[in-house]
Amino acid sequence: ASKKLLLLPGDGIGPEAMAEVEKLIAVMNADLGAGFETERGLVGGSAYDAHGQAISEADMAKALAADAVLFGAVGGPKWDPVPYEVRPEAGLLRLRKDLALFANLRPAICYPALAASSSLKPEVVEGLDILIVRELTGGVYFGEPKEIIDLGNGQKRGIDTQVYDTFEIERISGVAFELARTRKNHVTSMEKRNVMKSGVLWNEVVTQTHKAKYADVKLDHMLADAGGMQLVRWPKQFDVIVTDNLFGDMLSDVAAMLTGSLGMLPSASLGAPDAKTGSRKALYEPVHGSAPDIAGKGIANPIAMIASFAMCLRYSFGMVAEADRLETAISAVLDEGLRTRDILSEGKTEVGTTAIGDAVVER
Ligand code: NAI
Ligand code: MG
Repeated sequence: ASKKLLLLPGDGIGPEAMAEVEKLIAVMNADLGAGFETERGLVGGSAYDAHGQAISEADMAKALAADAVLFGAVGGPKWDPVPYEVRPEAGLLRLRKDLALFANLRPAICYPALAASSSLKPEVVEGLDILIVRELTGGVYFGEPKEIIDLGNGQKRGIDTQVYDTFEIERISGVAFELARTRKNHVTSMEKRNVMKSGVLWNEVVTQTHKAKYADVKLDHMLADAGGMQLVRWPKQFDVIVTDNLFGDMLSDVAAMLTGSLGMLPSASLGAPDAKTGSRKALYEPVHGSAPDIAGKGIANPIAMIASFAMCLRYSFGMVAEADRLETAISAVLDEGLRTRDILSEGKTEVGTTAIGDAVVER
């Protein structure tokens, strides 16, 4: 099977973080015969500077032809004045839309070496490994009507509409159940069926999908507000959480902060499997942005980007052993005491971006 990767480093610290992944790819090709074929493209402000668009048609075509896209980060003050349609974020939104990436995977993993510096008690986060599966293309962010109406009496009305159809809930819960089978075999579905019709349908469809195809997986339902509370109280009760676009946005940010710095957090966005080949379109990116405040200084934490590549190995290429090995290497580097500034704590050694990347490659 082909292993075509499109690298879109983007702006700010994006290229610095991506360079560390490129080292890994080179070593995997040379020493392990991994056979990755890489192409590069421009996205965000750097694409705007080159051709006035947040991503060119040629690079979109490369993204559609690739087996997976690795994305750095986009944006920065330099491009604040550019027109809305070609702002850096438009490149990412276009990729998500045209690749039809409906499932956003956000793991919250607590590396043992960082448990002590979490904002929560070490025993609450130590060994934490949960995965939030957020529906990314439906729900209240896209439902119609979506508008502000002038009521004429000095009042206005802002309207957003939460809409979910059966097929959308089926496919996102299918992703969650399949991922659970490769983990601890436990899915918790979160909605608010007590106050929302879309929540009632969500609960029904998840339950039916489970019964029809995934009865071997343990399924729980939880109201999303209670879920937020439980995430902070005792997150280790969860394995895979599946939820809608809005709740997923909030709950994944909450879960992220259980584990420390933005510089540590990877993500994946997956499309539907191809009817013929079974392969999915996918984009892997760190959760953080372009960090203009530290760009160009060589101090950015590349772990979020490297861990995103580990997700790519796992989910796009079925290279489970290699993904495990890479994650173990990250953990080992942290155990050695190496830290970029964002995760530095007493008694640890501050190093730069490339030193972390080199140490991971070495491991
Ligand atoms: P940010 O994530 O870029 O930075 C927030 C803070 O975290 C900064 O202090 C930064 O130095 C630090 N930080 C982030 N990643 C880090 C890393 N890998 N290592 C060490 N420290 C790190 O978010 P911010 O400042 O709100 O946005 C900056 C720019 O990035 C804006 O133009 C924004 O629109 C864009 N952005 C892009 C995203 C994307 O490409 N997916 C996501 C979020 C923001
Ligand atoms: Mg968010």
